[in-house]
Formats: sequence, C-alpha cells, structure tokens
Amino acid sequence: MSVITIDGPSGAGKGTVCARLAAELNWHLLDSGALYRITGLAAERQSVALDDEPAVAQVAAQLDVTFEPGIDGVAVVLAGEEVTTTIRTEEVGSLASQVAALPAVRDALLQRQRDFAKAPGLIADGRDMGTVVFPQADIKVFLTASAEERAQRRFRQLTEKGINASLPALIEDIRARDERDSSRAVAPLKPAQDAVVIDSTSLSIDEVCDQVMALVHQ
Ligand code: CDP
Repeated sequence: MSVITIDGPSGAGKGTVCARLAAELNWHLLDSGALYRITGLAAERQSVALDDEPAVAQVAAQLDVTFEPGIDGVAVVLAGEEVTTTIRTEEVGSLASQVAALPAVRDALLQRQRDFAKAPGLIADGRDMGTVVFPQADIKVFLTASAEERAQRRFRQLTEKGINASLPALIEDIRARDERDSSRAVAPLKPAQDAVVIDSTSLSIDEVCDQVMALVHQ
C-alpha cells in the first residue's frame, strides 16, 4: 500500500492535482481540508463556541460524515445532508481555519485521516500530510506557487463565476493566510524534510501531474 502526500499553501492547485492523480492511479483520495471545513460547519450548526476546544474536538471525533463518489466528483454528506458546496464557501473556510488551529481537534481527526490509507494506495491532500499524518509516506510533495500567481488563479475563478473581485485584495488575503498557516503553533505549514518541492507558478496542472507521476515511476 502506497501513500503520496501533497501539502502546500492555499491556491497552489493541490485539490485539482490530487483529484487527477487519484483518478489516474485509481487510488483513494483524502481531502483533509474538507474534514476541517466539515468540523467548522458541524460546530456552528451545533452552536458550539469555536474557542471551546474540548467541545469542538468532541464534534470532530463524532462527525457523522461520508464521502460518496459521484459523477461530479465526491459528494460530502454530513448527518444525512449533502454539504458539498456549502463547505466550499469563504465563511466555512474561515470556520475551518479557526478549528484547525486547535490541537485537540487535530488529534481528534488524526485516526480518521489515517483510515483513508487503503489498498491500492492513497493521495493525501493537505498542510501536514507528510509531516504529521503520514510521516512514512512513500512520496512527499510540497506544492507551492507565488502569492501573486495564486491570487491570479483565484481572481480568474471568481470572475468566471461573475463575482466581482479585486486582485490586490486577493493578494493581501493570500499573504495573510500564508502567514497564519505558517506561524501557527500546531502543524505549521512547512515542507517535510524529505519532500520534493514543486513550484507551480509557471506550470500547468498537467505539467504538475506529470512531475508527480515521474516520481511515482522512478
Ligand atoms: O483551499 P483552502 O486552502 O482555502 O482550504 P482547505 O485546504 O480546504 O483547508 C481549509 C482550512 O483547514 C485551512 O485554513 C487550512 O489551514 C486548514 N487545514 C489544516 O490545518 N490542515 C490540513 N491538513 C488541511 C487543511
């Protein structure tokens, strides 16, 4: 059983790359960010204060969530209700980053994440996949891109959906989030010592996937 971890900052293209690789290899996929998003949403729905660490950890430990493969990708079902698009909102992203900073919540989600590692293999997408969750992974990638490029990608996504956005504001947001992610006390964002760093600033999704597949076939 093999594990490939892909960690990196927001907007580096991890989600798309991981979904493509999992489909290409026919391996399982762990979107660990989704677990933090679902925990944030569940805590809010249960009126649990986000600064009540033991209570939020209990929500995380008892999550009634399933990931169901469908035609449009994976459907996320929380307590019987489909929340696939709800968990992608900026609001839930903010709840996720708050609960992700709580050590007891990270502990509560650890085993659930490890349980995704099943034959024939797993592609694990996150911030601490190679450093904390799967330190023995066969291949570790740290996927990054400049803050300007990541903001440009977000800008294009938003304008394609007809949503007004300001590029300077998005660059500032990305920088602030990078700073929060890399300076937090628990599981700060950093490449594992044995990770291969791929800078996707001037690479297409296909080129990134090709580089990872080259590591698989090495
Ligand atoms: O796409 P984006 O980076 O906005 O979000 P995500 O990957 O879905 O992660 C949501 C939140 O969970 C972010 O604030 C991450 O910092 C956090 N997270 C984490 O702490 N550890 C992980 N393994 C994955 C996500």
